[in-house]
Amino acid sequence: VSLGPLNTLAVDARARYFLDVKAVGELEQALAWADSRQLDVLVLGGGSNLVFAGDYDGLVIHMALRGRHWEQVTDDGAVLVLPAGENWHESVLYAAGAGYRGIENLALIPGTAGAAPVQNIGAYGVELCDSLQSVTVWDRRFGRQQTLDRDRCGFGYRDSLFKHEPGRYIILDIRLRLSRHAPFSLGYGDLNEYLADSDPANLTPLAVARAVMAVRHRKLPDPSVLPNAGSFFKNPIVTEEQFQSLQARHPDLVSYPVEGGVKLAAGWLIDQAGWKGFRNERVGVHNRQALVLINHSQGSGADVLALAESIQASVRAMFGVELEMEPGVIGLH
Ligand code: EPU
Repeated sequence: VSLGPLNTLAVDARARYFLDVKAVGELEQALAWADSRQLDVLVLGGGSNLVFAGDYDGLVIHMALRGRHWEQVTDDGAVLVLPAGENWHESVLYAAGAGYRGIENLALIPGTAGAAPVQNIGAYGVELCDSLQSVTVWDRRFGRQQTLDRDRCGFGYRDSLFKHEPGRYIILDIRLRLSRHAPFSLGYGDLNEYLADSDPANLTPLAVARAVMAVRHRKLPDPSVLPNAGSFFKNPIVTEEQFQSLQARHPDLVSYPVEGGVKLAAGWLIDQAGWKGFRNERVGVHNRQALVLINHSQGSGADVLALAESIQASVRAMFGVELEMEPGVIGLH
């Protein structure tokens, strides 16, 4: 099976075996089958945060569990249950349209609900873990279903338990605690500017989601037009000391204080190193946001990774800062 249409970088890799899973029972059977043949298993959601470095010599399970619903509805809020195969952006619009607040800043993030906790998706000052209550998983180590409360998920910036124990947990659904009255988070630069003329008292969650969509459309390419995997690197966190010496040399360095150091804008570093808008025959760097790599014309995973390494090398040479890749690399052993 060709995985080209199933990853947003449109890298043309192949899977030895492939299965669409629409029920938990089917998942259990598929895992037992793969185990009996000692096959590796890859669970794929929207394919928006990975790079296929080569073909996949195992079973690819396309997670298609659907059926979102509400629980614990009160006047103040409710819990939204999203099975892993639900599209994330549609779910944001669904919740915001119903008047619930909490995930409107996360509009237009590609991918599925089941993938959202893995990298703890975040944008415009909000992270998934801010509203996530629990995650139901299939634990492959013990062969049973489990509920992990938020505190057990090890969330950090673009980080979670699910990244640290790859392959162990298969996310079945997520529960989000949403509110009807919580304040919006509108402080982030671009969003704040966009909404400058609107009266916060009259804003609805849907209006905020639409503002986020407009802001994202200005900078971030639509994967169906320009194949990409969103931010290709994490924003690096450096020590206060490192920051001071960098700032002395680069007075307009873009940075935000965080716990334990200073976070730098990787897009700014890459931009300064001259990569914005770069392209070769197959792959390149987006011309409006240097943090996004683009597959222009049938580039392979190796083409994308070679470009990523060149970018890392020049940012290292110019700033002495190490950029860590954000998407997972699949098929490199
Ligand atoms: N910048 C440049 N040149 C560039 C890109 C950015 O100078 O080419 C500067 C901007 O002017 C701005 C700063 O860098 O001052 C930060 O840029 P931006 O606001 O676009 O945000 P980001 O830090 O590059 C992060 C997330 C995005 C998220 C936005 C908005 C990461 C790795 N990326 O990007 O997430 O949408 O903030 O909250 O944290 C993703 O993870 O795939 C993603 C798109």
